[in-house]
Amino acid sequence: MLLRLALILLALLPLPAIPQDLAGHGGPVRALALLGDRLASAGFDQAVILWNPATGRAERVIRWHQGAVNALVTLPDGRLVSAGEDARIAIWGAGEAPEQVLEGHAEPVAGLAASPAGLASAAWDGTVRLWDLATGTARVLQGHQGNVNAVAFAGGALHSTGQDGTLRRWETDGTPVTRAEFGFPQNALLALPDGALVIAGVDGTVHLVTPDGAQRALHAGPRPVVALAASPDGRLLAVGSIGGAVNLYTLPEGRLRHRLDGPGLPVWSALFAADGLTLWTGGQDRRVRRWDARNARPLGPLAPEAEEAPLAGLDRHGAEVWRACQACHSLRPDAGPMAGPHLYQIFGRRMGSLPGYAYSERLARGDIIWTPETVADLFTRGPDVVTPGTRMPVQTVGNAEDLAALMRFLEQATR
Ligand code: HEC
Repeated sequence: MLLRLALILLALLPLPAIPQDLAGHGGPVRALALLGDRLASAGFDQAVILWNPATGRAERVIRWHQGAVNALVTLPDGRLVSAGEDARIAIWGAGEAPEQVLEGHAEPVAGLAASPAGLASAAWDGTVRLWDLATGTARVLQGHQGNVNAVAFAGGALHSTGQDGTLRRWETDGTPVTRAEFGFPQNALLALPDGALVIAGVDGTVHLVTPDGAQRALHAGPRPVVALAASPDGRLLAVGSIGGAVNLYTLPEGRLRHRLDGPGLPVWSALFAADGLTLWTGGQDRRVRRWDARNARPLGPLAPEAEEAPLAGLDRHGAEVWRACQACHSLRPDAGPMAGPHLYQIFGRRMGSLPGYAYSERLARGDIIWTPETVADLFTRGPDVVTPGTRMPVQTVGNAEDLAALMRFLEQATR
């Protein structure tokens, strides 16, 4: 409960004003997953965003969960799975609605894992579930005391950990075998390619457990560890803690090689790109950032926006504020797939009226005409207040000067 409260308080801290990298979430970024050459992120803002890392554009926003989205995983067939505070698990295809919804957990789902052996979930109802996707039913695995926080498949077997500080392996008949006891609640669990497990706890310690049961401890710091990621070859390990540090260790030695140094800390999630050289982090600052895993330096904003050149000569302050919008919206009608409708000639346009864009039901109702006043109102009170049910992530433009500049800019740039 205390951890949950700490998480909520952290989520409400004020944010720096200058956006960069993948800016689109309305709250801290809790989970990341790779989907082929796309990146998926999930947030405390209840949204899942699909990014094209090559362009820095958000191509899709999924607003379906009724609470924070805590976990993402990609199935062997390439589909994305999300789960969260609303205790539901959703499997996504290309459509607006999930292809499958897995229900049964009674409390928030904290972790997911997928392997050819199946999809597994860990939840705060004290259970682990192993799902049969053909029937949508689960085998309920009981044995943990208190919240289960994480699951992982290693060496073909399902493992889990949680508040009771134990690492368990589940036999195929559903019997739990305690592989290790750590004495502190454990937050995160990760399988390495060689079948070893990495497990991290609220005491800031990371344990490596080899398939034969040998253990080694890495002390990441005094604060709870919330994020773990390993490179695809299992040679680099990223460890992020609530205090802000993200350490990079070499494996199997467990030697501290680097500490991330740059903006966007603390992080809530981390993920290596398929090349093993780029590390993605999901931050407290609501952004997804790229780092060079070889030297732990920030890689900075993604590919220069093709749209920036025509912005020369327009309101400069407003163009800065617009950077919070440009991942999802184009100013031109012909910009290709983006998560939000283009805003070309937005003023005078009826809400939800752009042909060919699949709006949420709330926007499709079309009861607002967009003017500088109504758009300013949208970002003063927030889309979640003005248009409850919209897919646009929770966000506001904090001060009147920024908002006025944004409206001047939009009037110039959307004509
Ligand atoms: C993470 C993606 C994302 C970000 C960031 C974002 N939007 Fe949106 N926006 C959307 C989506 C998705 C919709 C459509 C929502 C729906 O159908 O409910 C939308 C809808 C809108 C609309 C209504 C358009 C119409 O045709 O009715 C306006 C106006 C708008 N956004 C302006 C902005 C501005 C200004 C910003 C920056 C301050 C911004 N948005 C930031 C995703 C985003």
